[in-house]
Amino acid sequence: MRELIYYSRTAPTSGSYIKEDLQESGRVDIAIHTIIAAFFISHKIRSDVTLHLIFAGPPNPPRHLELKPVTEGKTGIDKIYISKKNVSAVLKKMLYKYREGQKREVFPGFWIEKKGLLELVNDFYEEKRNLYLLDSDGEDIRKAVIKTDPVFILGDHRGLPDKEFKRLKKICQSISIGKKTYFASQTIAVVNNELDRREENGLL
Ligand SMILES: C[S@@+](CC[C@H](N)C(=O)[O-])C[C@H]1O[C@@H](n2cnc3c(N)ncnc32)[C@H](O)[C@@H]1O
Repeated sequence: MRELIYYSRTAPTSGSYIKEDLQESGRVDIAIHTIIAAFFISHKIRSDVTLHLIFAGPPNPPRHLELKPVTEGKTGIDKIYISKKNVSAVLKKMLYKYREGQKREVFPGFWIEKKGLLELVNDFYEEKRNLYLLDSDGEDIRKAVIKTDPVFILGDHRGLPDKEFKRLKKICQSISIGKKTYFASQTIAVVNNELDRREENGLL
């Protein structure tokens, strides 16, 4: 299982803040592209990815949205059908369904709770998971050793805030997909492809 963490300092933490203009809604459009890149391949939804979104925008940061779509079962009862068209509605509903002090499953495999980026990464650190920070100055992904059940961390349109970036640099291995700066969603597509190819070749 591969896990991805996308952090957004502006993505809203209340459903009512997601308006028709997604770009003006705290750049939630980027989180949506990230979801599509994480889960959608041709005619299929990946079952080998868990995506964690940390939204740190107004009005009540932070929120941790954990997405691992259930792909088996009956639509509407034991799974929801997430399509490229309804991602913003799914996020909105998740934010509305948050309840103080709970980690709540809003749809099968879609959870929400109050948790910040460093707290979440620290949980993985304590579980001794293999942590990778996606950073253009890191080691080339084509040469790097990537261990089992990796966790990859990505920043928003402005990267990661200094405090978080410094801490993550200390506890993660930095990995680069090249010298150019790519969108978070493009970075995820490259990481997913690299991991797929390693798995196909028995290297992971
Ligand atoms: C749009 S970029 C951030 C741009 C921001 N101005 C910066 O320089 O950090 C969003 C995220 O994608 C990832 N990313 C972008 N280009 C990358 C690269 N060449 N190698 C590894 N990760 C990359 C990083 O995690 C980054 O925080």
